[in-house]
Amino acid sequence: MADDCRELRLALWYVDAQTSGVIEPADVGPGGQWLRSASQRDQIEHHAKGWLSEAQPKPCQIQPGCWAFPALALRNRRVTAVIVGVTLEASAFDQPWFGASCREAGVDPASARSGLATYTGPGKADVPLLSAALRQIERDHAQTDLDAVAIDQFSEQLLDSYEQTNLLFRLARAMNGLDNPEDLIPTCCNQMLPVLPFKWIAVKFWDNARDLKGLTNRLVVAGDLPCTTETFHGAVTEQFGGRRQQDWTRLLDPSSGGVPELVGSEVVVDQIIHDDEVVGVLLAGNKVGNSPMESDVSSGEMLFLEATSNLMGVFHENIARFTEQRELFTGTVRALTSSIDAKDEYTRGHSERVAYLGARLAQALGLDAQIVEQVHTAGLVHDVGKIGIPEDVLRKTGRLTDEEFGQIKRHPGIGYEILKGIPAMKPMLPGVLYHHERWDGNGYPEKLKGEGIPLIGRILACADTFDAMSSTRSYRPALPHQAVLDEITRCAGTQFDPRLAPLFVTLNFDGYDQMVQEHQALSGFAA
Ligand SMILES: [Fe+2]
Repeated sequence: MADDCRELRLALWYVDAQTSGVIEPADVGPGGQWLRSASQRDQIEHHAKGWLSEAQPKPCQIQPGCWAFPALALRNRRVTAVIVGVTLEASAFDQPWFGASCREAGVDPASARSGLATYTGPGKADVPLLSAALRQIERDHAQTDLDAVAIDQFSEQLLDSYEQTNLLFRLARAMNGLDNPEDLIPTCCNQMLPVLPFKWIAVKFWDNARDLKGLTNRLVVAGDLPCTTETFHGAVTEQFGGRRQQDWTRLLDPSSGGVPELVGSEVVVDQIIHDDEVVGVLLAGNKVGNSPMESDVSSGEMLFLEATSNLMGVFHENIARFTEQRELFTGTVRALTSSIDAKDEYTRGHSERVAYLGARLAQALGLDAQIVEQVHTAGLVHDVGKIGIPEDVLRKTGRLTDEEFGQIKRHPGIGYEILKGIPAMKPMLPGVLYHHERWDGNGYPEKLKGEGIPLIGRILACADTFDAMSSTRSYRPALPHQAVLDEITRCAGTQFDPRLAPLFVTLNFDGYDQMVQEHQALSGFAA
């Protein structure tokens, strides 16, 4: 800019926008020393205050015959300085202020005048032309600044986009885990908050979002609301209460009333939709920005929130399907269990009790909830292979022949064959196949030994034996708990895993006893 102005024979001053302090011209040209006088500085400083408050400051005479052309220097859309070009008309040299300024600056007025004659050229200063020229320079520089601002903004947007895309990716990945939706949605909101410039983000699922258990009808908020959560919750329910609005406006301003008026800011509202039904709403508001323009919600943010609400809709859909599948699976398992019970009334409820005890032992071992669940399911189906054994062998009260016992020993393998085609049964298969293996290697069907027997098989072996001994059979009465537990303790290291047996005998059997009573009532048999 200094070079441009030298071409135009303008002296340049800079006035810092923050301090209003004048930075003297570094190059005032021949004869221009008078510009450094205190009175000139005072004039520039005095006028600069006005220029800083104007959007387009206009050229003006700061002394008779002395013109100033102010231009605002911008950085990131903020005025950082006023650049002041100064030039003289020929008449200025005859003005008293010119002589006074020269003397003040220690310059001889005559030599200043002759120096300036070659620099600015008295009489040659064309105010309208210079004014236009400086405006053009200002525009060029403003454009340059705008370009710099645009580049900065683009970089910021790129960074924001990257962070947002990355967050979407993480949210999508997290939503593949369907086990704890109650935890997932609050976690999503908390992860979105630092990436998006909103003071708060909230999600509410309506009561038709049945499969989300603890989340249904609960408001999840991350960040700070400008009002109480209760008031906000009430306003959200009242305004958006589970209705599908075809002409839904996604960006609402405070003048529209309701939630935006309550929080005093623009609010983005996105519907969470599943199967064409609104199951919830995602809201974000009180955007943080350094300027009114930055406080406006951007199209990028709108897009991100839309993508997130879509993701939550898909998540809800997945949860619903998952629940459906689980119910179907549980139903299948129950049907299988009932079919085993139907074969032999003496063993009614045996599978459920083995499942219960197996799960308790797995819990006592500190296994994951998912593994505990697998042990429970494996317990329910562990004897499903008995479907393939003739009833007269299964119900035989007397001593079994070797051949009959050989038939009985086939049931783990048959169970395995029945279930191996069901993908969801895969983790349970070792429990079905190996629940009759013994720690010492004398079990069946494969005579596995020690830790070579899968843990789920060793767990079910304890539970299965306990229930078999504690139940009435056609050929003997039920044994008391203590006798059974003593037997299990005695067989630790031979029949049972020596680490599991001592733990098993410490379990609380109250729940088990309760089940026995219920099963007795159903079958009419004394267990
Ligand atoms: Fe069995």
